[in-house]
Amino acid sequence: MCDEQVNRCECVHKTFEELKAFASLEAAQQATGCGLECEGCLPYLKLMFASGDTVFELDDPRLAAYE
Ligand code: FES
Repeated sequence: MCDEQVNRCECVHKTFEELKAFASLEAAQQATGCGLECEGCLPYLKLMFASGDTVFELDDPRLAAYE
């Protein structure tokens, strides 16, 4: 079941919990490159910085605002 949840940037091997420590999405991207490779995690990263959550359902309805 865990592959139905999204909690990390697979490309740079960083969990959202780790990435949340940065002040902003831009800061996290500069430091780690997260969200810049396949960009699959990018809507989730945006939602993370907006909501503070670090684990998401693959089809979280809030993602509609960040696609
Ligand atoms: S999973 Fe984050 S850029 Fe690919």
